[in-house]
Amino acid sequence: MFQSQIKLYYKNVTAEIIGRENGIIPEQIKDLADKTGPLITELNAQRKAGGTAYRDLPYDEKLRKTVRDLAAELKDKCENLIVLGIGGSALGNVALQTALNPYMYNLDDTQRKGPRLFVFDNIDPAQFGSFLDWLDDKLDKTIFNVISKSGQTAETASQLLVIRQLLLDKLGPAGFKNQVVATTDAAQGTLRKIAEDAGLRCLEVPAGVGGRFSVLSAVGLFSAATCGIDIDLLHAGARDMDARVQGDFYKNPAAILAAINWHYYNRDKRISVMMPYSYALKDLADWYRQLWAESLGKAESLKGSEVNVGPTPVKALGATDQHSQLQLYQEGPNDKLFTLLQVKQFGRELRISSPPACAPELEYLAGADMGKLLNNEKLATEYALIQSSRPCLTVLFEKIDSYSVGQFIYLYEVATSLAALLFGIDAYNQPAVELGKQATFSLMGRKGYEQLAEKMLPIAQIDGDFLV
Ligand code: PA5
Repeated sequence: MFQSQIKLYYKNVTAEIIGRENGIIPEQIKDLADKTGPLITELNAQRKAGGTAYRDLPYDEKLRKTVRDLAAELKDKCENLIVLGIGGSALGNVALQTALNPYMYNLDDTQRKGPRLFVFDNIDPAQFGSFLDWLDDKLDKTIFNVISKSGQTAETASQLLVIRQLLLDKLGPAGFKNQVVATTDAAQGTLRKIAEDAGLRCLEVPAGVGGRFSVLSAVGLFSAATCGIDIDLLHAGARDMDARVQGDFYKNPAAILAAINWHYYNRDKRISVMMPYSYALKDLADWYRQLWAESLGKAESLKGSEVNVGPTPVKALGATDQHSQLQLYQEGPNDKLFTLLQVKQFGRELRISSPPACAPELEYLAGADMGKLLNNEKLATEYALIQSSRPCLTVLFEKIDSYSVGQFIYLYEVATSLAALLFGIDAYNQPAVELGKQATFSLMGRKGYEQLAEKMLPIAQIDGDFLV
C-alpha cells in the first residue's frame, strides 16, 4: 500500500530567495554537507553500538503487541484514561492525541473510538482538584496511566499519591491495583517498587531511551492505542523515515534540518520558530520544543569545555499567531529561523458560505474551502517573511495520519541527534532538569537533601527590602 511521505522544503533559506546577507549560498550548502556527512556516519555507528536505543523502537513488534493487548483489555472497561506524567512522559501523549484524534474527541461520544483522554503534566491544585471533583463518582470507570522513567519526579509522584489514596478510600486495594497502569523503568526506581508492591499492571520505558525520545515506546503508545490510534502505522511511518535519514546529506531531511539550524545559530539566528498551519499539529510543535530545548541547550561540550549553546525553540500556530506574533517575526530583529508545517489534505472540506448582500467585499471567500484559506495564509506569511529576508523551511504533509506523524517524530528525533553532534554536545542528558528536581526535593524536606536546602535558603526567603 502506498503511504504518503512528508517532505522538507528548503529553497526559502537560500540566497537566491532571501538574499546573500541572510540566505545560504551553494558553497555554504556544500560546506554543510561536508561537515554533516561524517556526523551521519558517526550517528549510524553510535546506533550500531547501542547508543541511540530510541532509533530501534519502531522495529519492536513485541512492544506493539504488549501495548495493543493491554489497550484491548482495558479499552472497554474504562470511560476515562488519565495520563499522569511530565516532560517527556506527557508531551508525546498530548501530541499524538491532538494530531490523530478529532478535536471534539473527549466531548462527543460519537467522535471517539476509546475512553476520554486527559493528560495531567502539572500540579496546580486548583486544576487537578477541580478535575478530581468531576472524576469522583467515575473512578471505577477510569484507568490512570502513571508514567515516570525515574519514578521519582515530584510532580508525578505527588499525583500518584493523591490518586492512590483516593482509589484506596473509594475502591479499596483492588481498586488501586485494577485502575492503575504504571509505565516505568523495567528494573528500578520508586514507581517500579510501588507497582510491584501493589501488583499493578506495568509497561516499560526501555533502557537507554530518555523521556523526550520515548514517544514511540510504551510511554506514548499505550494512551494512543487505547484511544484508537493506529500504532502499527505510527511505527511504520517512523521506519519509513529511518530509511531516509541514514545516508547521503542531500537526500537526508534530518541532516539538512540539523545543518540549516546549526548554520543559522552560528549566524545570530538563535531562535527556531515552529509554526504549524494545522490545529492538529499544534502539540507536535510543543513536543518539538521540549525535544530541541532539553537536548540542545547545554553548558558543556562533549570535550568538557564550557559552551552554553542551544537554539531557543518557539512554538506558534498559524493562522492564530499571525495576529499575535507575525508583526514581530517580520519587522523585529532578524534573529529567527522559521519552520512552517503545511498540510495538503485536511481530510475534511468546509465550504465558506456566501456573504449577505450588504457585504459584497466578502464575496471573494464564498465557496472557498477553509483549508484552502489556511494554506493560502501560510503562503502569505511565508511571502511576508521572505520579503523581509527571514529564512523559512517548510515540512509538507500530504495528509495527517499515523504514518505521517510517525515520520515527523522520527525525523525530528534524528535531526536532534545530528544537531547535537554539530554543536558537539550530549543530546541525551539533562543536568539542569535534574538540578531542578533535586532543588524541589530539598525544599520539600526530602532526607539527604538538607545541604542543598541550606544553600537555597537565601533565595527561597523573600527579602522585604526588595519588595515594592
Ligand atoms: O526528557 C526528559 O528526560 C525529561 O523531560 C523527563 O521526561 C521528565 O523530567 C520526567 O521524568 P520522569 O519520566 O523520570 O518522571
